[in-house]
Amino acid sequence: MNLSDILQRQPVPTPWAEGEKIPWNDPDFSRRMLKEHLSQKHDAASRRTPKIKKHVEWIHNFILAGKTSTILDLGCGPGLYSAKLAALGHTCHGIDFSPASIEYAVKNSPVNCTYTLGDVRTETYPPGCDLAMFIFGEFNVFKPTHAQAILQKAHAALTPGGKILLEISTFDAVEQLGSQPSTWYSDPSGLFSDKPHLALMESFWDESQTVASERYIIIDAATASVTRYTSSTQAYTEEQISQKLSAAGFNNIQFYPSLTGKPSPDVDEFIAVVAQK
Ligand SMILES: C[S@@+](CC[C@H](N)C(=O)[O-])C[C@H]1O[C@@H](n2cnc3c(N)ncnc32)[C@H](O)[C@@H]1O
Repeated sequence: MNLSDILQRQPVPTPWAEGEKIPWNDPDFSRRMLKEHLSQKHDAASRRTPKIKKHVEWIHNFILAGKTSTILDLGCGPGLYSAKLAALGHTCHGIDFSPASIEYAVKNSPVNCTYTLGDVRTETYPPGCDLAMFIFGEFNVFKPTHAQAILQKAHAALTPGGKILLEISTFDAVEQLGSQPSTWYSDPSGLFSDKPHLALMESFWDESQTVASERYIIIDAATASVTRYTSSTQAYTEEQISQKLSAAGFNNIQFYPSLTGKPSPDVDEFIAVVAQK
């Protein structure tokens, strides 16, 4: 793309048509993103360690009732949850398509924790799991058809009575995401490029489909070449999530205010949902 393509862009993107999400699976982007996952200065890509420990405690004590289990961690990133769950005796398997994250996870996890570099939409899930988890709102970033297929594959991977744990973005958080004003920044080196660049950002809220889309336009300062990334996020009501889980064969659907089971002291962007096969 070049600068005139920016002028001729579609005024409002069709959800998921321009691109589906930020390029987690691009090797250079994933190397830069890994730093954000591991940063103890913010909770943007992964939560900071003390918060992850609290979430892992709740998963271990409440969801798994302390019983040694086999866990499937979808979109596991650098394995920060899986490694801690494996240290408590669980057998974990993480799937993620970010090469730098999976490389880090493999190097930094106990032996009862394995990983696959792959796309959760196409990868085969290992059978015999007691818990399948997909956390930190990534579930909302999939097209509804892909999200439904992921639920069905997770259901098939679980043992009878096995559980799914989803952490989804609240409806209001997604609407807010799509209602942000346009903005921009310049950076000598940042998440979207190692080289000096400008980043222009636009957000859109599609009221009829209840989808937020975010467009990132990255302009290389030396060459003026343009790269565009667009990410769409589906807002779901609790009723819509329940319908999706029921359609995939889950029952006993319970909602919790956070991954500690209690209201979060931070902004309530996410809720946790647990359902049973
Ligand atoms: C917000 S991060 C959360 C990572 C991890 N669950 C955590 O909380 O630390 C979302 C993760 O989902 C992964 N992801 C997104 N789409 C994916 C896909 N289609 N297949 C596999 N992984 C995916 C990204 O690479 C990223 O690691």
